Amino acid sequence: MSKRYTITAALPYTNGPIHIGHLAGVYVPADIYSRYLRLTGNDVAFICGSDEHGVPITIKAKKEGVTPQDIVDKYHAIIKTSFEDFGISFDNYSRTSAKIHHDTASEFFKTLYEKNEFVEEVSEQLYDAEANQFLADRFVIGTCPKCGYEEAYGDQCENCGTSHNATDLINPKSAITGNTPTLKETKHWFLPLNKHEEFLTEWILNGHKKDWKPNVYGQVKSWIDDGLRPRAVTRDLDWGIPVPIEGGEGKVLYVWFDAPIGYISATKEWAEREGKNWEDYWKDEDTTLVHFIGKDNIVFHCIIFPSMLKAEGSYILPENVPANEFLNLEGNKLSTSKNWAVWLPDYLQDFPNQQDVLRYALTANAPETKDNDFTWKDFQARNNNELVAIFGNFINRVAVLTNKYYNGVIPESSGFKAIDEDTLAAVKAYPAVISSSIERYRFREASQELMNLARLGNKYLADEEPWKTIKTDEERTKTVMFVALQIASALAVLSEPILPFTSEKLKTILCHSELESESTWNDVSTKDILLPSGHQLQEGKPELLFTKIEDKQIEAQLEKLEASKKANEAANKATEPQKDEITFEDFTKLDLRVGTILEAEKMPKTKKLLVLKVDTGIDTRTIVSGIAESFKPEEVVGKRVTVLVNLAPRKLRGVESQGMILMTEDASGNLVFVNPDDSSGVGNGLQIS
Ligand code: MF3
Ligand code: ZN
Repeated sequence: MSKRYTITAALPYTNGPIHIGHLAGVYVPADIYSRYLRLTGNDVAFICGSDEHGVPITIKAKKEGVTPQDIVDKYHAIIKTSFEDFGISFDNYSRTSAKIHHDTASEFFKTLYEKNEFVEEVSEQLYDAEANQFLADRFVIGTCPKCGYEEAYGDQCENCGTSHNATDLINPKSAITGNTPTLKETKHWFLPLNKHEEFLTEWILNGHKKDWKPNVYGQVKSWIDDGLRPRAVTRDLDWGIPVPIEGGEGKVLYVWFDAPIGYISATKEWAEREGKNWEDYWKDEDTTLVHFIGKDNIVFHCIIFPSMLKAEGSYILPENVPANEFLNLEGNKLSTSKNWAVWLPDYLQDFPNQQDVLRYALTANAPETKDNDFTWKDFQARNNNELVAIFGNFINRVAVLTNKYYNGVIPESSGFKAIDEDTLAAVKAYPAVISSSIERYRFREASQELMNLARLGNKYLADEEPWKTIKTDEERTKTVMFVALQIASALAVLSEPILPFTSEKLKTILCHSELESESTWNDVSTKDILLPSGHQLQEGKPELLFTKIEDKQIEAQLEKLEASKKANEAANKATEPQKDEITFEDFTKLDLRVGTILEAEKMPKTKKLLVLKVDTGIDTRTIVSGIAESFKPEEVVGKRVTVLVNLAPRKLRGVESQGMILMTEDASGNLVFVNPDDSSGVGNGLQIS
């Protein structure tokens, strides 16, 4: 029975490209689900877009010295292309800077305002006087009042997922200046979640006990049990959607108020383009709404957004919110800022046309019930041992043998044996098996069942050995090949949600488009024959569906990660604490001069020492300097350096050194000459060498 579905995938923040964690947690499962629903004849709107407001984007813009709009334009384009590249089949990918979204979100806010659904309140909020700015959300970091995590943000703790008000943080610090914030009065509009507590309890805790994932249900329950409080839905910021009511000047909507409304605006944009009615997808009780998200988004999609929809009054509520846990990478948490990630554009460069391999590896190992680890070794094994050795090998044998024995024409079968009947019956059971997994959001299980179908094909060929019977029993060989070809055709149809590129290739090899009617998901379970005798396969040598991934490719990826780790360690090297205070008189004792290095040579039999001749302006003198590990003698000749000239002379390896040179260190601990215009030594103390 055909039904209408609105499927949403969390709008990604446009402050960086997307990585495997995003794909595994949200977009691949949402895509599998949407493709499956379309294939089984449903009316689907699969909706997403870029989340372009919020503090992280303004922080990134400031860091790079560009405007927030520049940042979102750049990453919107990159992210949109990645989704297309990986076959994420959104019906619409919009963005929250679009006019239609600003209008929709403003309208929504005004409606709630007019319905008196907000509490207006002047309260004291965290303020950074030096930055001249209120501190909300990611502008403030402090200790989570719930779990004690010390780097919780103003609106959410990434460690325990709790969402709170910035003033709840213990020991808050400004992310802009590092200062301890003061309090300053400002007016905001609050959504009184406490008012919706009863409805939420009824709807989720009593209504969805069985079918929501335990991790989602558990988080929501703990939230409600803790008691809900009003949440500010406006902010004192200049990047966002202006608060559209009197008194809202200079303020914008909280990003988590506007972003989920993005699902609605993106649906409107799509409906306008396609000549559909968007309200069917958001206001009709017969429509099923499902939100695909990561676990850090649970409270927003299960508590705050539903409260907004309920307060507005004319919208449907989500049927399910199948949130995933997190994916780690090689044992560590994925991190954009630490560059501990596999970025999708990089992946495609290193593994061109191998989107399905990643889709498969991520699905087979999806963090559905607990956090999971992505390792390159596992990725390689999934490809080589499953996709290549089972799925690809089966298809290749079938296509090659059909070409060789029958010039690519499906042979006649004559008299099925029990094994043939059993095999065909087993194939017919697969659509229901895979459907059941997908409908229960068990995508790992679905991917394994799909692989089991390929295994069944492989085993059938191995048992029946057509390459042997071809010499003894031509009729039997035809029947075996006929059966094997039916399995191949079933794989072409059933692989589409998980492996869309492979499905397409396989359909081309099998010439599915030449069939009287293209097989559907249901046909696989109901029809006795998917590929009739006499049907012609694609001519020529069949394309390989998958290719082996070599050890050296995996090593190259591991090396890339190792390099990230090193760069991080260097960046995190603690800056040395300030030394004891000195008096002005202490300082004036130092006689510092700018000199020029005239000559340099290595001190024999040492690793570290260079013997320099330096023109100090007063004289030319010898300085023995411990910089030989960072510089070759010829590199330093001619350099201008700051010299401490009144340091007591000292003999080093028999050579008297009459002064020392001011140096500092770069992030990796190499000595560099002091040059304030060069950022390499920023934050590191000066030293004399
Ligand atoms: N941008 C958010 C994130 O990446 C998700 C927003 S989902 C929406 O965590 F509902 F607000 F759209
Ligand atoms: Zn916490």
